[in-house]
Amino acid sequence: MCGIFGYSGKGNAPEIVVNGLKRLEYRGYDSWGIAYQKKNKIVLYKKAGEIGNFTCSRIIPKAPIAIGHTRWATHGRATKLNAHPHESVDGRFVLAQNGIVENFQELKSKLISKGYKFNSETDTEIIVRLVEDNLKKSDCLLEAVRLAFLDLKGRNTIILLERDKKHIVAVRNGSPLVLGIGGDGIYFASDTLSFADQTDRVIFLNDFEMAEYDNGKLRLFDVNSGEEILYKEKKLPQNSAGIGKEGYDHYMLKEIVEQKHTVREAVQYSQSELRPLIQAIKTAKNIYVVGAGTAGFAAGQIAFFLRKYGGIHAIELKSCEAGSYRNLFSKDDIVIAVSQSGETADTIETIEFAKEKGAKIGSVVNMIGSTITRMSDYGFLSRSGPEICVASTKAFTAQISWGLLIAKAVVGKYEEAKQSIYFLSEILQKFFDQKLFIQIQEIARRMVNIEHCFVLGKGQNSNIATEGALKIKEITYKHFEGFPAGELKHGVIALIEKDTPVISIVSNDDDKADLYSAVSEVKARGAWTIGVAKSKNDLFDDSIILRDAGIADPILNVIPFQLLSYFLGVKLGNNPDKPRNLAKSVTVK
Ligand code: M6R
Repeated sequence: MCGIFGYSGKGNAPEIVVNGLKRLEYRGYDSWGIAYQKKNKIVLYKKAGEIGNFTCSRIIPKAPIAIGHTRWATHGRATKLNAHPHESVDGRFVLAQNGIVENFQELKSKLISKGYKFNSETDTEIIVRLVEDNLKKSDCLLEAVRLAFLDLKGRNTIILLERDKKHIVAVRNGSPLVLGIGGDGIYFASDTLSFADQTDRVIFLNDFEMAEYDNGKLRLFDVNSGEEILYKEKKLPQNSAGIGKEGYDHYMLKEIVEQKHTVREAVQYSQSELRPLIQAIKTAKNIYVVGAGTAGFAAGQIAFFLRKYGGIHAIELKSCEAGSYRNLFSKDDIVIAVSQSGETADTIETIEFAKEKGAKIGSVVNMIGSTITRMSDYGFLSRSGPEICVASTKAFTAQISWGLLIAKAVVGKYEEAKQSIYFLSEILQKFFDQKLFIQIQEIARRMVNIEHCFVLGKGQNSNIATEGALKIKEITYKHFEGFPAGELKHGVIALIEKDTPVISIVSNDDDKADLYSAVSEVKARGAWTIGVAKSKNDLFDDSIILRDAGIADPILNVIPFQLLSYFLGVKLGNNPDKPRNLAKSVTVK
């Protein structure tokens, strides 16, 4: 988590950095700060809270070089004091970090015993002091940073700005770092989106690589050996820069509505493009599908599709739990990783375990050029365009649309899956109308004071129930719980009392009767029953009626939950794009 941005060039660096940080705020928005050169000093400007509408004019003067950081707190509260960048005692350099120094305590004790003092509660200051310590042995900042970095455990990416010259040093391990090569200057950032409107020429750094920009000259080094390495520029695809709200109040609603197109984009792969992955799935001994959070539910749904339609015994694993099964991975297996950002630490770690054992890696990722894509033998993009809202919506439906295509392609029914997604996209063209919005807003109004809500699904809608509930939790901070309808009578029914809301997802499938039994059981105990269904039924007090999307039905069924999440969140006065305590890209464990 956390966003890093740096710039050096002909433009006004502080303003460019602040604008870049605004685009990186999805990575964390507890506090922020920038550092720029003024005469022979580095000036720091830091604030607790979001950047919001901050502009440099009249507060921060023009400068040719600056770095900045937007924070998701790990070590130390979200205060101005803990905000990055952090400065060396002699003011020679400032440093910002994305990650966690896992051997923080050990290093801190050593530094304290050497007489170093700390001003903040962060682990970042440890890195600053380590660099200072190395500078006592040699005056070369680049070498001091390299040696300090080698002492760090954990996934860390750092950026430094030096006082006396136009000098930026940045090092990557685990957390992303990409350079943008513009006509007028160079950008250092946590993602490409933050500068995609300025340049499409990029250099992706790999783990344990460091970049130095010294007075107009860029060089890359291997951190372990210290040797200079060659680098290759890449070109970003043309549409990478489009990240406006386009008239919507929030990104969340814009991204929900965009699903009418994005599900279609996700299946724009020809059979020959899919063939190597399909072949690998068919011949693998074990197929694991992994992801975290929403991507974890997408992984569950993709595994479901592979079992149900592909006849393949696919196993879903939560990324954070997969480490417990690392002994099971073998060279004959394939791990399919699902991720919006392609930077999720838990998922990357699972891939690393699997790769160590020689397993093949497939992936479906939204962010172009991300770490997971680059680690994959069979990398696919979900092609949803930038997803800015912290809560994932269009990436989820794109991932599972792609999963449906893969599952059907395994048994030679590629065309059937593709047509079903096209049909879903057609349904969605007329889906987002006033009537539906008003109905869901009315349900949201009646939910303002509830504490709990249960969401029931079964079979193809089981992961949809858990994802639907997660979406609402994230934005409303209310306790929504999704689970398989059949589990109800094994415990959760104890929580049902008069007016407890229960939302049930009913498709036209073999599980319909079981769903209705579960609804009867909660209704008999006074629950407020809401159906996301194909037709009305007396068992439901309220019904959200959707068209039958056939095999793509579960993809359609999640959308009313996304809308309920949005409308209820807004009604409660929450910012749906930046829910509390969350960050979009979870690059720490
Ligand atoms: O970038 P990823 O898809 O790998 O992220 C995984 C989760 O952190 C993410 O899906 C999270 O659950 C979102 N907040 C969901 O809305």
